[in-house]
Amino acid sequence: MIKLEKHTIDINKLVRKNILAMKPYSSARDEFKGEAEIFLDANENPYRSPYNRYPDPLQWKVKVPLAKIKKVKPEQIFLGNGSDEAIDLLIRGFCEPNRDSILITEPTYGMYAVCADVNAVRIDRVLLTPDFDVDLNTLLGAINESTKLIFLCSPNNPTGNLLTRQKIIQVLEQFSGLVVIDEAYIDFTNNKSFLAELDNYPNLVVLQTFSKAWGLAGLRLGIAYASTAIIDILNKIKYPYNVNIQTQQIAVKALANVAVKNKRVKEIVRERGALVKKLLKLKITQKISPSDSNFILVQVENADAIYQYLLDKKIIVRNRSRVALCANCLRITVGTPKENEKLINALKKL
Ligand SMILES: Cc1ncc(COP(=O)(O)O)c(C=O)c1O
Repeated sequence: MIKLEKHTIDINKLVRKNILAMKPYSSARDEFKGEAEIFLDANENPYRSPYNRYPDPLQWKVKVPLAKIKKVKPEQIFLGNGSDEAIDLLIRGFCEPNRDSILITEPTYGMYAVCADVNAVRIDRVLLTPDFDVDLNTLLGAINESTKLIFLCSPNNPTGNLLTRQKIIQVLEQFSGLVVIDEAYIDFTNNKSFLAELDNYPNLVVLQTFSKAWGLAGLRLGIAYASTAIIDILNKIKYPYNVNIQTQQIAVKALANVAVKNKRVKEIVRERGALVKKLLKLKITQKISPSDSNFILVQVENADAIYQYLLDKKIIVRNRSRVALCANCLRITVGTPKENEKLINALKKL
């Protein structure tokens, strides 16, 4: 474990040495500041279309309104091609291949392990408790000299629940590497985001996304919030134009209309409650974990058979049976009322 007093955490000491030393690519649009009329600097095609120019590499038109909504500074925001890009860049920027490691809790979102594997970074895994919470002693006990990042997904995928806030605080207090809290599903709970803690913990990274509550998964826009020292590293190693013009424009529109997002979230949360009630009435349902997300983890009698039965009816759910602690569990995303009704009717006929 890297032990440092909180107030003395020097993010640069956590960064891979080659990345700290390297000179980033400097795009034409990075170098130009101010007013201009004629752009002959980026080898673009001069004939006008909505897309003949490269996009803003740092996406300020998105970051400024997003920062306002989230009560952070625009400089504390990284935007990427989905939050998956941020996960990959965090590992690439902070973990030395074949030497450093990440620590994850199981079961959780699969991309932390995939990105670590791609980057030849070891993965240390600890199990969640049977009720899918962090086992603090086990987690802290698994930290070792090579641990650079701890990923905590809250609300957690595929279990749907929040991890206990006080336990996450303990991890932030006691680990001096980066603590990445993945809040992809935070809008579907009434509990507080960790964003308000950004200024208290220089090693905190919060991931959010436009893919879930905002209803924009196809745009591919994910967010990492962190201290500017961490954000600077992510910006240093990202592809220069990682978020395209159209994505930026649509995100700006969405941010100008938060009420639409909030209304959809309310509907999904209401429908989640209705779906749980209906599922609980079915004979096949053995257990439903409390959900703070837009999906429900349901333990059934025979998940493989039910998964196949639904598939034959052209209804696709996620079979999580082979995931740790999730024997016979199906993960069901909350759909529209009509879609959920079709699901329940199909299951009633089983
Ligand atoms: C916990 C969690 N984090 C991140 C993601 C990826 O989000 P994005 O679409 O922003 O890459 C997902 C997608 O399912 C997820 O469940």
